[in-house]
Amino acid sequence: MAVSSNFLVFSASLLFFMVSPSIQVSFRPKALVLPVSKDASTNQYVTQIKQRTPLVPAKLTIDLGAQSLWVDCEQNYVSSTYKPAHCNSAQCNLARSKACGTCFDGPKPGCNNNTCSLLLSSTMVATIGEVAQDVVAVQSTDGKSSGKVVSVSKFLFTCGSTFLLDGLASGVKGMAGLGRSKISMPSLFSAAFSFPRKFAVCLGSSNGVIFFGDGPYNFLPFNFDISKSLIYTPLILNPVSTAPASFEGDPSSDYFIGVTGISINEKPVALNKTLLSINEEGHGGTKISTVAPYTVLETSIYRALVRAFIKEIPGIPRVPAVAPFGACFNSKGIRFSRIGPGVPTIDLVLPNKAVWRIFGFNSMVRVKEDVLCLGFVDGGLEPTTSIVIGGHQLEDNLLQFDLAASKLGFSSSLLFRPTTCANFNFTSAA
Ligand SMILES: *[C@@H]1O[C@H](CO)[C@@H](O)[C@H](O)[C@H]1NC(C)=O
Ligand SMILES: *[C@@H]1O[C@H](CO)[C@@H](O)[C@H](O)[C@H]1NC(C)=O
Ligand SMILES: *[C@@H]1O[C@H](CO)[C@@H](O)[C@H](O)[C@H]1NC(C)=O
Repeated sequence: MAVSSNFLVFSASLLFFMVSPSIQVSFRPKALVLPVSKDASTNQYVTQIKQRTPLVPAKLTIDLGAQSLWVDCEQNYVSSTYKPAHCNSAQCNLARSKACGTCFDGPKPGCNNNTCSLLLSSTMVATIGEVAQDVVAVQSTDGKSSGKVVSVSKFLFTCGSTFLLDGLASGVKGMAGLGRSKISMPSLFSAAFSFPRKFAVCLGSSNGVIFFGDGPYNFLPFNFDISKSLIYTPLILNPVSTAPASFEGDPSSDYFIGVTGISINEKPVALNKTLLSINEEGHGGTKISTVAPYTVLETSIYRALVRAFIKEIPGIPRVPAVAPFGACFNSKGIRFSRIGPGVPTIDLVLPNKAVWRIFGFNSMVRVKEDVLCLGFVDGGLEPTTSIVIGGHQLEDNLLQFDLAASKLGFSSSLLFRPTTCANFNFTSAA
C-alpha cells in the first residue's frame, strides 16, 4: 500500500508535460476528454487515443470493467519510448501482477525477459500480456469544450496479441479499460495530473464522451453542467474477480451497484432476492457493462420482467420475437415523445429509495419498421452476475464514477434536459 501510493505521488510530479507547442509549459489540466462513437456492426463503443513515440492514433473498444488499457503489440507497434515493466518493480506491484515471464521471440514490444504480465481478455478470448509503459496523449478540457492535447510519458498498459482483436469493431487495436483498479485509465490519469479520482461516461447511439476528472460536464445547446444534478448510489466491491480470466484472489474490477428490486410502472416485480446480492463466490448482484449491448438478466429475473411488462402494456399487439429479444410489439399503437416510445417505465430500485428509471428510449429497441422489442436479453440460469446493465440502457445517460468515495452518480435520461451525450462541444485538436 505504502509503495503504491508513493509511486503515485512520484508520477504526479514527473509525468506530465505538453505535447505541443514543443517548449514544455507546466500546464496542468483539470480534466481530460475522449470522444466516443458507436460501431454499428458490433454495437461496441469505440474511442481513440494517441500513443507511442512518434504518436499514432489507436482506436479502442471501451471496456468499463477491465483493469487496464491493452493494445495489440504484435502488429506495427513501433515506439522509441516503449518500456516493459521489470518483475518486482513499482509498476508490477501497482498492476498486482502475479506473473514474471521469459520470452523467446524477442526482444520486442510484448516480448521481453524478466517482465511481469497480466491476464487480459476481449469479447471471447483471454491471454497473458506483458505489462509496459509508453506515452499516451489525449485532449484536456475545462468541462465546456475540448482543449489542448496533453500527454503522460509513462502510461501503464498491457501488451495484447492480434488474435484478441477478433470480434472487436473494425479498425480497433485494443480496449480502453476503465475498471476498478490502480492501473485503469481513470486511475492513471488522476494520478498523473493530480485530479480527483472521478470519471464520467456518456454513451450515445452515435456519439458520446468520456471525461476523466471532475465536472463541470457541460452539454450544448444550453451548456447545462450535468455533474450538478446527479443521483448517487454506492458502488459495491465484489471481492471475487468477474473477469473472463483472473488470478485466484483477485477482486473484481467491474462496477457493481446494489439493485434491490425492479418495478414496472412503479409496481414491484416479484424476484428471487438472493440473486440480487453478491455471494461468497462473487456470483450474483448487478454490474454495469459497456461491452454488453443490452441488459442481460438471469433467466428467472428476465421472465418475471417480460411477464410484468406485457401485463402493463395492454392493447399493444405482440408480434413474433426477433432474436436476441423475447418480447416484441407492433409499434403502430405506441405513442412517441422526446424520450422515445411511450411504454411502461422500468425502475431499478436502489438503496435509500433511489431509483434508476428507464424510459422508452432506453428500454425499447427498434428492430424493423413498426416493430419495437423490449431491449433486455436472457442471460441463462446461473450466470456469474445476475443483472448486467448494458449499453442500450446507458445511452444518453451520464454516469459519474467517484472512485475515492466509491459512489456512482447517474443523471437519468439527458433527453429530458434536453440534450444528448453527442452534444459535448468537441473542437478540433490543433
Ligand atoms: C530470454 O532469455 C532466454 C534464456 O533464458 C533467451 O533464450 C531468450 O533469447 C531471451 N529473450 C529475450 C527476449 O531476450
Ligand atoms: C465550442 O467551443 C469553442 C471553443 O471554446 C467555442 O469557440 C465555441 O463557441 C463553442 N461552440 C458552441 C456552440 O458553444
Ligand atoms: C433463489 O436463487 C438462489 C440462488 O440461485 C437459489 O439457490 C434458490 O433456490 C432460489 N430460490 C427460489 C425460491 O427459486
